[in-house]
Amino acid sequence: MTWKIVSLPGDGIGQEVVASATTFLTLLAEKLQLTLDIENHLFGGASYDVHGKMLTDETLEACKNADAVLLGAVGGPKWENLPHNEKPEAGLLKLRKELGLYANIRPAKVYNALSNASTLKQDVLQGTDFVVVRELTGGIYFGHPRGYDEEKGYNTMVYEKYEVERIAKQAFELARKRHHKVTSIDKANVLEVSQFWRHIVHDVHKSYPDVELVDMYVDNAAMQVVRDPKQFDVIVTSNLFGDIISDISGMITGSLGMLPSASLGDKYALYEPIHGSAPDIAGQNKANPLATIASVAMMFESSFNRPDIAKFIIEAIEKTLAKGYRTGDIMGEGGKCVSTTEITAHLIESFNEVYAAEHQL
Ligand code: IPM
Ligand code: MG
Repeated sequence: MTWKIVSLPGDGIGQEVVASATTFLTLLAEKLQLTLDIENHLFGGASYDVHGKMLTDETLEACKNADAVLLGAVGGPKWENLPHNEKPEAGLLKLRKELGLYANIRPAKVYNALSNASTLKQDVLQGTDFVVVRELTGGIYFGHPRGYDEEKGYNTMVYEKYEVERIAKQAFELARKRHHKVTSIDKANVLEVSQFWRHIVHDVHKSYPDVELVDMYVDNAAMQVVRDPKQFDVIVTSNLFGDIISDISGMITGSLGMLPSASLGDKYALYEPIHGSAPDIAGQNKANPLATIASVAMMFESSFNRPDIAKFIIEAIEKTLAKGYRTGDIMGEGGKCVSTTEITAHLIESFNEVYAAEHQL
C-alpha cells in the first residue's frame, strides 16, 4: 500500500514547517515500514514567481491525484499589492473550491505542558477540548453578486440547502465520536441566511437525537469562547463566522503555532497548520513545525484510517514539550528555546521512544 502525499510548502515559514514534516514523515515511514510517496509542488507566491499564477493547473491536477495534500502557508509582503483576484489568498480559496473541501476541522486543544502559555486563567482553560467545524466553500466568501466601485462595495452571504445539510452532518457525526454536543453558531436575530441555516441544522438534527444541539449567536459565541471554553464540544458554523471563531479558539490554547487543521470534501483532503506564513521570521530556522506535524497526525487519522499512528504522533509532540523543548512562539519560563530543525530532531527522538515503549508492552 502506497500513500501518495502532495506537499505544497507555499511561502514564508511554510517552506520550513513542511520540510520539517517531510523529514519526520520519511523517518516515520522507515520505522513503520510504510510506503509514502511525497511529491513537492509550487503553490502561492512561490508559484507566482515562476509561473505568474498562485495555483497552476499542474499543481491542482497533482492534488487531485494524491491521497492527501499537505499545505504549509501562503502569502507575504512581496505579493500584497497584486490585484485582489491574483493574490495568494485567492489561490487558496480556489484550491479549496476546486477540491470541494467544504468541511474545515479545527481542533482547539490545550497541551498540558503549554497551559501556562495561554492568556486565559488556568481554571478557565483546564480541560478545554473542542473542535470548530467551519463551512469552507460557501457563504460570503464565494457568494454573488460581489464587487466594489466608486460608490459602493458589496458581497452576498448565501447558503444552499445541500451545503448546510452536509456540514451539519459532519458536525453531528463528529459529536457522536466525542461528547455528543453541537453548538451551531449563527446570526439568526438579524440575517435571513442564518435563519435558513438554523432551520436546516435543526432538520438534520432530527436524525441525531442522541446529540444535544445548542444555537448561539456569533457575538455571544465570541464572548463564550473566552468566558467558558469548556462548554463546547463541537462548534458548527459558516465560512466567515468560522474564520473568526477559529482564530479566537486557537489563541486561547496558547499559540496558533500549535494548531492543525483538516479540510475535507467528498473526494479530497487537505491538511494544514492554522498559522500563516509569518514573513517576519521566515528563513531563520525559528518557526514552530508542531502544528504541521499535528496536521500530519490528522492525515493519518482521517485519510489513511490509521488512528494508531496519529496517536503516536500526538504523544511524541506531548513528550517533546514535556522535555521542555520550545520554539520561540511558545517559550515560557523554564523552556529550552530551540530551532525548527532541532525541535524536529527532538520530535523524532520522542517518536522513537513512544513507539518503542508501546511495542514492549
Ligand atoms: C484561514 C485564513 C484564510 C481564510 C485566508 C488566508 C484566505 O484566514 O484559513 O482561516 O480566510 O479562510
Ligand atoms: Mg483565518
